[in-house]
Amino acid sequence: MIVEKDNRLFIGGVAASELAKMHGTPVYAYDEETIRMKVRALLDGIAYQPLRIFYAAKANTNISILEIIRDEGKGRAGLDAVSPGEIEIALNAGFRQDEIIFTSTSVTDEEMKFAIGKGVLVNCDSLSQLERYGRMSPGAKVCFRVNPDVGAGHHGHVITGGPESKFGIWAADVGSAFGIVEKYGLKVVGIHEHIGSGILETEKFLTAMNVLLSIIEKNRDRLESLEFVDFGGGIGVPYRPDQKAIDFREFGAAVSRLFADFCSSFGRTLSLVIEPGRFLVAESGVLLCTVNTIKSTPSHKFVGVNTGFNHLIRPMAYGSYHPIVLVNNCGSGRKEKVAVCGDICESGDVFTRNEAGIADRELPEIREGDVLAIMIAGAYGFSMSSNYNTRPRPAEVLVSGNSVKVIRKPEEMSHVIYGMSAGDKNKP
Ligand SMILES: Cc1ncc(COP(=O)(O)O)c(C=O)c1O
Repeated sequence: MIVEKDNRLFIGGVAASELAKMHGTPVYAYDEETIRMKVRALLDGIAYQPLRIFYAAKANTNISILEIIRDEGKGRAGLDAVSPGEIEIALNAGFRQDEIIFTSTSVTDEEMKFAIGKGVLVNCDSLSQLERYGRMSPGAKVCFRVNPDVGAGHHGHVITGGPESKFGIWAADVGSAFGIVEKYGLKVVGIHEHIGSGILETEKFLTAMNVLLSIIEKNRDRLESLEFVDFGGGIGVPYRPDQKAIDFREFGAAVSRLFADFCSSFGRTLSLVIEPGRFLVAESGVLLCTVNTIKSTPSHKFVGVNTGFNHLIRPMAYGSYHPIVLVNNCGSGRKEKVAVCGDICESGDVFTRNEAGIADRELPEIREGDVLAIMIAGAYGFSMSSNYNTRPRPAEVLVSGNSVKVIRKPEEMSHVIYGMSAGDKNKP
């Protein structure tokens, strides 16, 4: 668990300040037990059987994390891959080919060939893709994604249902999708939707489920081979102090009841699939960084750290809130309002912000040299990082109880500069 003890922050059994000393900063640190606990919460919290999860790997693709999810899933955790690279990572993490679904958008024929060659189920995102897939692989199993015209999420950029969204086959075009399916003798084994990310209300999820289930009901005669319905991911976690975690007992019970009722009227037991990303990994990770500059303008006291939106883009991209903790003094003493900013040459590179701009945060008094933890950074943190400003990506470490393992070394500068190690550069 990630907890405050004696006013200090601990990742598992290890003080965050020790991690910073051992591995330097910036560094992403993950707590293994938190990930395992979240996988169990999901599998135990949804009573409906058969239940499967396809972990949305894009949230965090570190192979050690994938291995933990596979292990804790005990045969019920598969993986949602959005690129050939994610298929490769999944296979390398030990997921079987039949435990992986390829759900991409604007897909090329080469990418589909790759997935087919690996024996991975293709989830088609458009009529065009379905047609090309049918031509390539007549008679094959297929899944397709529906845009149910219901969207939800913490920011417009992550709402993936509705007319503004590029994803899925528009609900009114589902009839044409079945036309293509029949033309090529495809077997529809799965129907999919994913309405958005960061959803904290069960109701939204149920509304979208109902839309998809009514589409399935309407087309029941064309769905003899249906094996599963995949309702996507999107379960949120509370980032802000005023947000409440989704009531998981209510969520699990409502989703199970709705799907069980549907299956009994459908006359077949189908598998229930969900694709959580953030829910499984967000709270397991922190980004540790060191304060190197403190300065003021008439508007703000800026606390400058040695990381930026190249390593954690969520505040910059979505105005997202991440709690920030001074690791050796989590809350006591005098507090002051500061703006925590990064080392990237853009004014937007401020971690304490909302969609309107900079939002000062009340934190204990901070000095240069202090270590800060940017919390709830396990999802869409490292996986969205970049080399912007020609800065290398940081290391990732995994804490398991009292032991710490490097699960990704810090990127070497030579890779950033030359795209290869310094040794390889001089080889013919
Ligand atoms: C198809 C699909 N499934 C699942 C997810 C996971 O979303 P989240 O991390 O919010 O659970 C995403 C996120 O973009 C997605 O596009």
